[in-house]
Amino acid sequence: MNNYQTFDTVYIFNYKPFSKVCQAFDIKNFLAYNLDMTNKTDYTLPWTSPERYRSYASYDKAYTDEITASVAASTYKTTYHIQPKTGLLNDPNGFSFFNGKYHLFYQVFPYGPVHGLKSWGLMTSTDLIHWQDEGLKLFPDTVYDSHGAYSGSALPLSDDQLFLFYTGNTRGADKSRAAYQNGATYSASGEIKKFVSPLLTTPKGYTDHFRDPMIFDYQGDKYAIIGAQTAELQGAVVLAHANDASLTSWEYSKQLAFTKQDMGYMIECPNLVFIEQTPVLLFCPQGLDQAVCAYDNIFPNMYVIADGFDPEASSLTNTSALHNLDDGFEVYATQAFNAPDGRVLASSWLGLPDLDDPSLADGWQGILSLVKELTLKNGKLYQYPVAETLSLRQNQEQITLLDMPIASPTNSYELELEITSDNELYLFANADKTSYVSLTVDMLNGTLTLNREHLPINWAESYGNTRSTTFDNTTGTVKLNLFADTSSLEIFVNDGEKVMSSRIFTAPENTYLAAKSDITATLWQLKK
Ligand code: FRU
Repeated sequence: MNNYQTFDTVYIFNYKPFSKVCQAFDIKNFLAYNLDMTNKTDYTLPWTSPERYRSYASYDKAYTDEITASVAASTYKTTYHIQPKTGLLNDPNGFSFFNGKYHLFYQVFPYGPVHGLKSWGLMTSTDLIHWQDEGLKLFPDTVYDSHGAYSGSALPLSDDQLFLFYTGNTRGADKSRAAYQNGATYSASGEIKKFVSPLLTTPKGYTDHFRDPMIFDYQGDKYAIIGAQTAELQGAVVLAHANDASLTSWEYSKQLAFTKQDMGYMIECPNLVFIEQTPVLLFCPQGLDQAVCAYDNIFPNMYVIADGFDPEASSLTNTSALHNLDDGFEVYATQAFNAPDGRVLASSWLGLPDLDDPSLADGWQGILSLVKELTLKNGKLYQYPVAETLSLRQNQEQITLLDMPIASPTNSYELELEITSDNELYLFANADKTSYVSLTVDMLNGTLTLNREHLPINWAESYGNTRSTTFDNTTGTVKLNLFADTSSLEIFVNDGEKVMSSRIFTAPENTYLAAKSDITATLWQLKK
């Protein structure tokens, strides 16, 4: 294998001592915690590192029954979004079309609503709407992923084999981190086979914050981009290419040139897709200077549009300025891929690193966004729920939103409005409108502002209670499609010119809608 030499060195210095410690570590936990997780049914209590990384086998039935019942009873569960059965879900992984079905894997720690020992869970679907839960598939069960099967991507190798490229997170006894870019295949019959050795180890010049390989096809050759931190602690994206069709031998190209600006201290989850040949790079820079591109969340999810991809030079040519992918409160780690039907499909984690949401208390956190189609119109990136989403609509009603709140039968609906003058909408409201989320429309300035401060549960306030976006106001009308689902709200402006995705936590009965000035709207209840 091409960098086996390098890998061997890592193995001797980093891994071997650690693998012994690792076994002792589990046994020690087993005894020290005596499998007593009774204190852990208060999910808001802090989790220690040994608790987060103990083996799955060490959780007893009483504990798993308890967390399963707690999540099942949670009033924050969404009805048409992907969410974890228990524990914490974060990044979408391995989004692909294989064996006649869309495959959407996701990061999950099933034993608690915290970032712990991660596996890949899998959902499959023929229509991107009805998802079949296939359970956990890729486990952290080898020396090259002992502390987590971290994020990655997928590409069909044949009708029977889906190639998975993922990061194996490992920790030494001294807490040092080593990251391996590992390969595996997932067969049509549902079986995972991991490659014996990592496909890539961290090259010289980068720290072990090196992860999230995204594989893609470009003119018949297979490439991957990986999120990285340079030895100078700068965010970067590294390009690699496959040497063979079976994807067992990989080699680094160079760091991907796509900007001259400083990209913060780390880039996570890079994705390169081609929208009608135009390359679009999606990525999550951490520690990005606000002067490079302003953002409101702890970490942004951004993109650039280029006019070409040059694999020889490892560069994207004539890239645009950086843009925020989404202007809502919680969106991260968007994963996109070129689907065989020609569409570019994307799924995002409606959550953020280093942020807990109120469903933590019920034993779970994190949902995936609606599946969005990415298109370019007049050089601008648009994101809109895939056409199949229309099949969720039922019970269409023309309503007039008034100052006096009216109740929607549920908080799982789509609301469509065309707005021509300044207004303020109130959603997730209670009957007397003392509790709500507001959306202020300013037609003159072409801005929309979402405000969460009047909700009964205030959380994540350190980054502020409002988020704003701008829209093209030259037509004098702004079209809004709002998708509410119990504890989430995705707002699509002008058919996807802008998007605001957020989590909303309120009481189940707060399904009222109102507006400052009367306005008609179409309301559909959305199927489960
Ligand atoms: C992004 C991320 C990835 C990593 C994964 C671990 O949210 O930190 O960089 O692979 O989550 O769950």
